[in-house]
Amino acid sequence: MPVQVVVADAATHLVFHDTSWDGTVTLREGEEGAGSGHDRAGTCELRMDGGPLRCWVMVGTPARVLRAWAALTGAPALPPAWALGHHHARWGFGSEQEVRRIVSGYQERGLPLDVVHLDIDHYDEHQVFTVDQDAFPKLPQLAEDLRRDGIRLVSIVDPAVKAVPGNAVYDSGTAEDAFVRDASGRLVRGVVWPGEAVFPDFTHARVRKWWGGLYEERLGQGFSGFWHDMNEPTSFAAFGESTLPRSARHALEGRGGDHREAHNVYGLCMARAGYEGLLELAPRERPFVFSRSGWAWHAALRRHLVRDVTTGWPGLRASLSLVMGLGLCGVPYSGPDVGGFDGSPSPELYMRWFQLAAYLPLFRTHASLRAGRREPWEFGPVVLEHARVALVERRRLLPYFVTLAHLARLTGAPYVRPLWWSAPEDRALRDCEDAFLLGDCLLVAPVLDPGVDRRAVQLPRGRWYDTATGRAYEGPGQILLDAPMSRLPVLARSAPSSPCAGRRRAGTGGVGTRPGTHRGGLVVPDTGDGEDEPEIERYVTRWEGRKLVVELEREDGMIASPRPVRIRGLDKGSAQM
Ligand code: GLC
Repeated sequence: MPVQVVVADAATHLVFHDTSWDGTVTLREGEEGAGSGHDRAGTCELRMDGGPLRCWVMVGTPARVLRAWAALTGAPALPPAWALGHHHARWGFGSEQEVRRIVSGYQERGLPLDVVHLDIDHYDEHQVFTVDQDAFPKLPQLAEDLRRDGIRLVSIVDPAVKAVPGNAVYDSGTAEDAFVRDASGRLVRGVVWPGEAVFPDFTHARVRKWWGGLYEERLGQGFSGFWHDMNEPTSFAAFGESTLPRSARHALEGRGGDHREAHNVYGLCMARAGYEGLLELAPRERPFVFSRSGWAWHAALRRHLVRDVTTGWPGLRASLSLVMGLGLCGVPYSGPDVGGFDGSPSPELYMRWFQLAAYLPLFRTHASLRAGRREPWEFGPVVLEHARVALVERRRLLPYFVTLAHLARLTGAPYVRPLWWSAPEDRALRDCEDAFLLGDCLLVAPVLDPGVDRRAVQLPRGRWYDTATGRAYEGPGQILLDAPMSRLPVLARSAPSSPCAGRRRAGTGGVGTRPGTHRGGLVVPDTGDGEDEPEIERYVTRWEGRKLVVELEREDGMIASPRPVRIRGLDKGSAQM
């Protein structure tokens, strides 16, 4: 995604190099002496292999820049509320019984679980849009049982189609002339999980329409959401590039061209096929399509996933910078495989990853066939207890995540923001890559190194409350906070209110607030999984002598809050609703 965001004293700007061809951007720091300190002018050199040399530049505050970017590319799609909960995935569940065992494991231990993902092992010989009837003989029944317990099923969808007559997708795709060909008209074949495979040309509207219709089979199996994978597209190769040959031909919306131009937008066009197909097949539901690969424009169609991150502390650190970077590029919904994809994390690494992801938009545990387990109870009773705290906290914050999802759609602002988001002039914040703002209200300081039980946190200006101790701190400045294995340091900003789930029933959406100046916060209530436009609730807090008053602002004046409000940082009895 050729998007570059630059933060400087004068303003923030975003540059989008508007070509899908391959290219490089070389950033060079300014020479010493050319200016002083941060003022040294650097250079940016762009080389593209083809396409127009056209770029878009957006300038202003970070919020304005992202708003302009969303206006250009389309607003980020709204995930259904369930997609903001906890997801559990694994390559290699292998059978219905195993899926039920994992789900019971969560339920018996009182651990919230919202979504289970089925990987390629539930396919018949790894063929997309099929089911292994021996291992998953009653998939719709499984989906229905899980749904009754409030758990959704998500299906992996790979673009590669096994090239064998008799495979229904291959046959219908052949009849549709849907697959990528070379310049002499021969089908381009590659090798992916099912063996020899062909690849739909998603850059053709007719092919997208055909592919979109195939999701009907998935909906019939009971799946609620879709995980597009291997869609760079990947084709395994012992030598050279693990994708289609550069000479492979593509329709490119009628212009015609080759894979050099189509490669980067292949995942985007596949997302469009799935998204539009689902809108037609299930018009009353918000499609949930997230993808391993994508490009600019992608957020409007679906969300993003951070791919196969390596198990290890550097992988954990990379997870945060990737989510933050994608958010600044206009893809606000993303998240890593908790624990890393390929190895066996130590209990400590697993716990710290789990705690971080509990505050990221996509909160998913996932691992490879050969990797160690990822269920919270597989790491001993202490980790299990701490994981429970993280899961319960995520559930409590669900209304806040729903609000952030709506705000991302309405304003382009990512859920996860760098600390400099609202104070780009604060140079100390610009160097901070190990903490983030979750919306306007929370500052999360994850632990990204082993053996840490205390860490420094750089505060933006304003008053911040440690959510564990209630202690107040004044920013800007650096503070030291305890970060025991049981939790991450999380601070709440004074004044704005953050919606949280009520204690008794998740999803009731109470409002938490902190006393401060005469300010307030927004709550966007969930309106179900459809496209109904919710009414934004604007809360205002003000002091009346020693009383704090919280009111809902409406066009016809102020009214008392219709929701339960919990005030933190005050003595008992001094708040009134
Ligand atoms: C890819 C995906 C991974 C998935 C695997 C099998 O490596 O990135 O998440 O589990 O394929 O489908």
